[in-house]
Amino acid sequence: MKILVINGPNLNMLGRRETEHYGSNTLPSIERALIEKGKALGCELVFFQSNHEGALIDFIQEKADGADGILINPGALTHYGYSLHDALLDCGLPVVEVHLSDINAREEWRKISVISDVVIKQISGLKTQSYLLGLEALAEHIRSQEGK
Ligand code: DQA
Repeated sequence: MKILVINGPNLNMLGRRETEHYGSNTLPSIERALIEKGKALGCELVFFQSNHEGALIDFIQEKADGADGILINPGALTHYGYSLHDALLDCGLPVVEVHLSDINAREEWRKISVISDVVIKQISGLKTQSYLLGLEALAEHIRSQEGK
């Protein structure tokens, strides 16, 4: 099973940015943990990070064919990225949304996720664990659909 793992704006700065919210792990170390988890789950992972909404959309449009699901932390685009929402909807793949921090326990504007209606699950507030549990939930969902 092939999973696209997508990170949005500023997540390339993990480890150096607001560690009280996001923890001290860097994006490469999160990706390494995901690779380990992916091996156990039988998932091939394709990673992509960009600070640009259009680049994220190009990636989704190019790679969705042949992929089975998307694990995404859209960063601040979570709260206003309507074109990202539409790209996720149009690609037709199951999507799990993850956040390192608890977006419901921070500023009011962070409580709104404009992609929440196109995802099968949102996991927030568990730092690196959000990604690992997100991958698990996505793989489980894909397997259960295949069984039908
Ligand atoms: C984030 C939460 C967003 O509000 C923020 O803009 C981010 C990271 C998280 O992982 O907690 O960049 O998605």
